Amino acid sequence: MQPKDNIYEQYAYSYPHKQAYRELPTPIPLQAAWSKEDKTRLSAYLHLPFCEMRCGFCNLFTVSNPKNGIDTYLNALQREAQNHRATLPSIQFEAYAIGGGTPTFLEVDDFAKMLSIFKNDLGVDTNQKYGSIEASPKSISPEKIALIESYGIDRVSIGIQSWIAQETKLLGRPQTPELAHQALSQLANSTIPEINIDLIYGIHGQTPKSWLYSLQKTMEFDPVEVYLYPLYTRPLTGLEKMNNQEKDHRRTLYKTGRDFLKKEGYEQVSMRCFRKAAVGHVETRHNSAVDGMIGIGAGARSYTRTLHYSTHYAVSRKAIQSIIETYSNKKSTDFQEITYGIYLDEVEQIRRFLIKSLIDGGSLDVDLFEQHFNQKITSISIVSDLFEQGWLTQNGSIIRLNEAGMEMEDFIGPALFSDNILNLMSEYELQ
Ligand SMILES: C[S@@+](CC[C@H](N)C(=O)[O-])C[C@H]1O[C@@H](n2cnc3c(N)ncnc32)[C@H](O)[C@@H]1O
Ligand code: SF4
Repeated sequence: MQPKDNIYEQYAYSYPHKQAYRELPTPIPLQAAWSKEDKTRLSAYLHLPFCEMRCGFCNLFTVSNPKNGIDTYLNALQREAQNHRATLPSIQFEAYAIGGGTPTFLEVDDFAKMLSIFKNDLGVDTNQKYGSIEASPKSISPEKIALIESYGIDRVSIGIQSWIAQETKLLGRPQTPELAHQALSQLANSTIPEINIDLIYGIHGQTPKSWLYSLQKTMEFDPVEVYLYPLYTRPLTGLEKMNNQEKDHRRTLYKTGRDFLKKEGYEQVSMRCFRKAAVGHVETRHNSAVDGMIGIGAGARSYTRTLHYSTHYAVSRKAIQSIIETYSNKKSTDFQEITYGIYLDEVEQIRRFLIKSLIDGGSLDVDLFEQHFNQKITSISIVSDLFEQGWLTQNGSIIRLNEAGMEMEDFIGPALFSDNILNLMSEYELQ
């Protein structure tokens, strides 16, 4: 396993990718899909597929500035949540996330309604369990912060990307540093225990000096966590054309960012994630590689051990809008059936286990692996390969990517994909 020139292949935060999902041969009743699963340690996810603008780099399932349809979307979300509770009354959630899109895009009343659906209709005890919500500088407000506090949400992740107006403009996300400053000051004055700031490196024209400036500016808010994202551009966009004209500086900027944050007292958890060493929760956040997830909302995925499913997947505005519309028009009974997803045989379950354990700050628990799959970790050749490359370190029964491995994370993740999944992804026609 040796990288070619480019180590930035893909952010493998989940497996299999939705591009490998297909229409199921026969629809599966929700109850049947979950009947043999342990439903006591689930993760809950809520997807809000709306943003105030569509950033030039983003290929997430979201549309910007929908003119209408928020109400009907939230009503469908409520039907879906209630249907889950009624069909699977024994579900218990251990951790949760509210993402998108930008959940704080909603007006205060709608934002309150969304949180209430999650807590009261789906039954996620947001005050007792560990959870996170995504926010943007433009849409966060004191009223929404007060709601986040009252629901006991532990972590707010906010996309700042860069402190230089010229750079955020180039990212197709015009944002003044003043606006970012105002949002972070509001969050700093709240009682929310963990604030995460997202930054991006590899922007056209970004230099080590301008990158260091953004990192230093970020330190003024003393965030518990910082995520550093290498920029991935979408094919055929202006951003991609611009970035193709210049040398790829991402690896240099990555090292600059990593070394800077370590000096500032952050612990490197993964290629992207840096946390203040003294603050806990990393383990809670990176749920065990074998626990299931229930996602609600258009674009949300759900996982049992053997079946992953979601609504249809798309990237273009028109196709996403049509999926959201179909979702919003679903009747309660429509949520009883799963029609789109992928089955995971044991080979795929093992690959998923490795990816969830090694990528994005996880840890590979050898005992759990051997118990679960009834085979020795030493019989998995790809793991031996990673050791041979010097990218893994073992401590007792726990294996993790080491510093050299984390640097290669966006190469290692995709290298763990099976040929079957790679074929399905390449055959998928993006809409
Ligand atoms: C799930 S997104 C949503 C956060 C929120 N909507 C916002 O943008 O403020 C989380 C982060 O992923 C990063 N991201 C998304 N697409 C990216 C891309 N193509 N390249 C690099 N980073 C990306 C951005 O830093 C973003 O803040
Ligand atoms: S990066 Fe965030 S705000 Fe921008 S389009 Fe993507 S989800 Fe929306």
